[in-house]
Amino acid sequence: KKVVLAYSGGLDTSVIVKWLQEEYQCEVVTFTADLGQGEEVEPARAKAQALGVKEIFIEDLREEFVRDFVFPMFRANTIYEGEYLLGTSIARPLIAKRLIEIANETGADAIAHGATGKGNDQVRFELGAYALKPGVSVIAPWREWDLTSRETLMNYCEEHKIPVDFSTKKKKSPYSMDANLLHISYEGDQLEDPWIESEEDMWRWSVAPEQAPDTPTYIEIEYKHGDPVAINGEEMSPATILETLNKIGGENGIGRIDIVENRFVGMKARGCYETPGGTIMLRAHRAMESITLDREAMHLKDEIMPRYAKVIYNGFWWSEERRMLQALIDASQEFVSGTVRLKLYKGNIEVVGRKSPYSLFDSSVATFEDDAGAYDQKDAAGFIKLNALRMRIAAQKGRTFLDR
Ligand code: ARG
Ligand code: SIN
Repeated sequence: KKVVLAYSGGLDTSVIVKWLQEEYQCEVVTFTADLGQGEEVEPARAKAQALGVKEIFIEDLREEFVRDFVFPMFRANTIYEGEYLLGTSIARPLIAKRLIEIANETGADAIAHGATGKGNDQVRFELGAYALKPGVSVIAPWREWDLTSRETLMNYCEEHKIPVDFSTKKKKSPYSMDANLLHISYEGDQLEDPWIESEEDMWRWSVAPEQAPDTPTYIEIEYKHGDPVAINGEEMSPATILETLNKIGGENGIGRIDIVENRFVGMKARGCYETPGGTIMLRAHRAMESITLDREAMHLKDEIMPRYAKVIYNGFWWSEERRMLQALIDASQEFVSGTVRLKLYKGNIEVVGRKSPYSLFDSSVATFEDDAGAYDQKDAAGFIKLNALRMRIAAQKGRTFLDR
């Protein structure tokens, strides 16, 4: 028996390594990914070795993450429940995919993860795993063991001589956090009361809007087929684009939200998120589409967006419906190329300019000045009358709105 564990190198997943070895008598393979969480991943190697792990996978997945997951999602202007940019949700399918690929490579028949039995992440990891390897076994220690507090975890470490010292390292944040290039999330602790405002020192990636510079920052983002490719004229890789926007956004206090969301498992949960680069990308992409997309194309993708967001939030990335929705979204992006100019100021993003070689904006038609015959205003009278026809018939038959 062999199991591939999504291993962060932290206390929880280190205990899981030992626990799997003991409870399941199985060989543990660890997988640690750099998704841009801002912490070194290499230290996970020594920690895993010290726990007797022989096959250790440590990978830099930042470019793949942004290119194949974040950017495709942003082509749809995706937001869950009007606010959440899905920073954690979109990383899970990639981790699930690598867990399964590594299982196939190493001959493992099971995967394991450190998500609790109360959240969305377990669902996302496991739906992905089953979709990609239908016969796989899943082990979720948090649903099985009784190590429910930090103290019992520490005791377990002592008893089992887990040779890594996590206790004194650094002051552990009281929050349940998850970070990658798209966002950092905070849940739990004092956030469990949705009435209580978060403490300012919780936020790690952005300054408070009121602390941001008093002069605005202007940036230009260039798009090709719906994806950002350059900032201020400088071409960059997908991960570098997002990293750069995170920095600029964070400095200007952009991208903080504090929400209560509906988890797939049925409960409401309060979470705080910092998504500086993603918040900028969302505004910029919409602005790019505003001049390059046909109206009905735009409205169609707007209609399917909430569905697509829910598919991702609920963990169905590796599903037929996601693939179909993606095909529709991608097909809409053929002409979404050009440049957007933004003004960032104290938490705010203003679109101040947009241009494209494929622009559908026609000033000769739209102008308030004389349009030299480009649009005949007389045509509008019949257009409106025919649109009013059914309402006029109904009103003539007594269905007036004035008394009901
Ligand atoms: N509530 C968010 C989501 O479901 C964030 C989850 C954060 N995960 C974590 N392991 N801390 O996508
Ligand atoms: C967890 O329960 O492990 C984190 C929160 C979530 O997955 O929604």
